[in-house]
Parts: sequence; structure tokens; C-alpha cells
Amino acid sequence: MTERAIQVLDRVAPALDRINDRFPWSHNDHFHPWILANLPARRRGAIELGCGQGDLLAQLAGEFRQVHGTDTSAQMRADARVRCAGLDNVVVDDAQLRDLGPETEPEPLDLVTMIAALHHVDADETLAEAARLLSPGGRLLVVGLALSATPRDYLWEGISAATNPVIGIAKNLPPRRGDLRRSETAGGRPDPFPVTDPTMTFDQVAEAAHRHLPGAHFRHRLGFRYTLAWTKPGR
Ligand SMILES: C[S@@+](CC[C@H](N)C(=O)[O-])C[C@H]1O[C@@H](n2cnc3c(N)ncnc32)[C@H](O)[C@@H]1O
Repeated sequence: MTERAIQVLDRVAPALDRINDRFPWSHNDHFHPWILANLPARRRGAIELGCGQGDLLAQLAGEFRQVHGTDTSAQMRADARVRCAGLDNVVVDDAQLRDLGPETEPEPLDLVTMIAALHHVDADETLAEAARLLSPGGRLLVVGLALSATPRDYLWEGISAATNPVIGIAKNLPPRRGDLRRSETAGGRPDPFPVTDPTMTFDQVAEAAHRHLPGAHFRHRLGFRYTLAWTKPGR
């Protein structure tokens, strides 16, 4: 990056930060509609790895016969159980994909999903396990974070940074004072769930996906995210 570009960014960044603070939005929850719009036709069992506070689990409960959320954080599991209280087709535990199979799941799995969780685990192993677990015709839907390394990645990062405040303002209209519980973007407010930085680049994630999930659709997205969608061949 040129020195001039860095100077401009240094001047603009604090202003953007102030707007982002004032108009926070969850980059993860933003993708719930994408997940719900891409569900497989057959909806028996679903697994969400890294389910956090369970908002997506509760939505999936209305779509699938059985929903299994897993999270290694005891606090997240407790929050998810509260969020899904009364939904008797939702189970929350700390299982890992490698330990699951037809013998542990009451329904054949038609969906494996994860939002901002793949960079917490071994990506190669997790994608391979997801592919193994899914029934033919089942779908893997991933929303993730990765490191920027190529000009295309940096372009998407720039577009995400520029559109972040606009999306924040749009999502907060009319202003929802006091409704900032799930904010994860705004500076100074703690994330509600455990976080870690990604260590793989977008291209590395795409390569891992293509190793284990031939034909997977991998796309950069706004909100500093990518999406990965794959349907297991067969019926
Ligand atoms: C950034 S948070 C995202 C939470 C949630 N998916 C959301 O969108 O709000 C990542 C979550 O993955 C969980 N996690 C980390 N390693 C895990 C593992 N090996 N198995 C299951 N969950 C894990 C963390 O505890 C955390 O709740």
C-alpha cells in the first residue's frame, strides 16, 4: 500500500470507527437469512458446529425434525439452551464432528452449518468430517472469516470497511437504543462468544474446500466474511 493511501486511511479510520460504534450490527447474524435461503429440500437432521448463543439453532428448529448444536464453551451452551428452551427437537452439547455418525444422531443429517466457527477448528478435518456426516443431497453451509493475502482479498476488505457503517446505519433505523446485546463489530463492546483470529487465507480455505468438497461454491462477502456452500452428490 502506498504511503499516501496509508495516510488517507489513518485519517478516515477513526471516523468510520465512530460510526461503527454508534450503529453496531452482527456480521454473523447477518448471514442467517443466507443460511435459511439455502437449506436443502430434505430436512431431517441438522448440526450447527460452534452454535454460540443459539439464535440460528432456534430458527433451524422450525425447519428440521432434529437440530444438534455443539459448542466447546460451557457459557455458550448454557445461553443456547436458554435461547432454545421449549424447543424439544434441539439438543446442545460439546460433541465434535469426528465423534458423530448415524449411531449418535436420531435423524439422517441433511445440513451441517457453521458461522464464524471454521477458523476455530482444523479446517481440513472439519470439512472432511462434514462431508462424511451428510446424507446424499445434504448440504454444508459455512460462513467464515479468513486472512487477506491477494489484491482481490484486500479489495473485498476495503469494500467491507466502506460499506460497514452504511449497513450499520440501515440496520439500526429507527435507532434501537439499548438493543446492542449481540453487537460484535463496534469497538469497545465485548463479543458475546469466544473469538479467535483466522490463520488461513481465503485461498487456503478455498483449496481445503475443493480438496474435500468437489464443486463447492466459495465466495467473498461483505462484512469481512466468505460463504461456502456444498451439496453432497447423490439423492
Ligand atoms: C465466533 S463464535 C461464533 C458463534 C456463533 N456461530 C454465532 O454466529 O454467533 C465461535 C464459536 O465456536 C465455538 N467453538 C470453538 N471451537 C469449537 C469446537 N472445536 N467445537 C465446537 N465449537 C467450537 C466457540 O466457543 C464459539 O462459541
